[in-house]
Amino acid sequence: MSEGSRIPGFYKLSLDARREVISERAGVDLSEMVHALEAGGLDTRTADKVVENVLGIYGLPFGVALNVRVNGVDRLVPMVVEEPSVIAAASNAARMVRHSGGFRAEVVESLMIGQVQITDVEHPSEAVMKLEAAASRLLELATKAVPNLIARGGGPRAIDVRDLGQRCIVLHVLVDCRDAMGANLVNTIAEALGPLTAEIAGGKLGLRILSNLCDRRRVHATCRVHARELVRAPRSAGSSEWTPGSERSGDLDGLEVVDAIVAASRFAELDPYRAATHNKGIMNGIDAVVLATGNDFRAVEAGAHAYAARSGRYAPLAVWRRDGEDLVGELELPLALGIVGGTLRVHPTARLALEIMKLESADELSMVAASVGLASNLSALRALATEGIQRGHMSLHARSVASAAGALGDEVELVAARIAGAGIVTVEAAQGVLAELRAR
Ligand code: MEV
Repeated sequence: MSEGSRIPGFYKLSLDARREVISERAGVDLSEMVHALEAGGLDTRTADKVVENVLGIYGLPFGVALNVRVNGVDRLVPMVVEEPSVIAAASNAARMVRHSGGFRAEVVESLMIGQVQITDVEHPSEAVMKLEAAASRLLELATKAVPNLIARGGGPRAIDVRDLGQRCIVLHVLVDCRDAMGANLVNTIAEALGPLTAEIAGGKLGLRILSNLCDRRRVHATCRVHARELVRAPRSAGSSEWTPGSERSGDLDGLEVVDAIVAASRFAELDPYRAATHNKGIMNGIDAVVLATGNDFRAVEAGAHAYAARSGRYAPLAVWRRDGEDLVGELELPLALGIVGGTLRVHPTARLALEIMKLESADELSMVAASVGLASNLSALRALATEGIQRGHMSLHARSVASAAGALGDEVELVAARIAGAGIVTVEAAQGVLAELRAR
């Protein structure tokens, strides 16, 4: 039965029918949706005002992940990504998690960090004490720099000072940016605090800029999957022969798959080479949501990897353990996302993405993005721990290879199925199959 973010058979619908279903489900006007999705929603004239030296627009597919439930609320989750299988993988893992009630997520604090660097400090430990003692004066000054943020209930909350050595100290100002990502707000505050900070510290003013290691704005997501869900694997989220989640588990039973996923997690915990790839799988999901909603994916990536390396050794952002017959996953990372300002002012497709998700706050967006990251990780580990990802990847990749070979409309699926079935996913093979089809 169809409900919330669960839409069985969605992948079988035509693109137009999919738009209709989502417009109805999300309560978004269909013509507004079509307008925002045709040609990426951004016209060249607008793009020309957004960045410099513009020549045109670069498009990427905009899809929707299904089955996602976070803290008891169903969400249709728009994702923008060029890699086949990412959206289907997240949807399939979300379906498995859904059977145990969905993802639980929370935002741990919600404070951005602005940095003011002071160099050539004569007496660093004295300067640290003086700046700590001047915290309320500094906060007052910071408050005056962002009246609109104060009116929205946000603002600077605390001051932290550290001696970095080499006569260099850094002042952190912690800022509640409410529903904005906050880069401009934090930079404005850091610049406003600069001169007074240097004066109090008795040093030379250096950089004034936010930190992308926003470890005071973290999101934590967890999920639980019963072993039986990991071997059920119906094919329901993609249109090819194979979809993520449909891997053959071979002779493994559900509990063996749980143990294999836990072993995959341990591998990432033990080895930074594996942790980087493990985290890439998480960011497959998170970045796609970040991009769809017009947020700054470079900032998110910088924060995620710096946080992953916080112990001095690069580590996985999500870990998996067995609890009885359940697999339990846990993810934590810094995530600075906004639902106001920035790209959202000019980009109708980013605004559409937020409308489809029905978000009321930036914190909600972070919780959904983290849940999709955990889903992506689960799907990748499940595939890797069972039959591997290559068959599936090749099967989905075959569609873009068929298109590249010139296949049109229904030909794409026919050619893709033939080359994937034969295990030769090349443009030349696709051209051969296409020529054969057309000669009939
Ligand atoms: C590919 O985009 C992502 C994976 O490599 C992630 C992983 O290895 O966990 C499959």
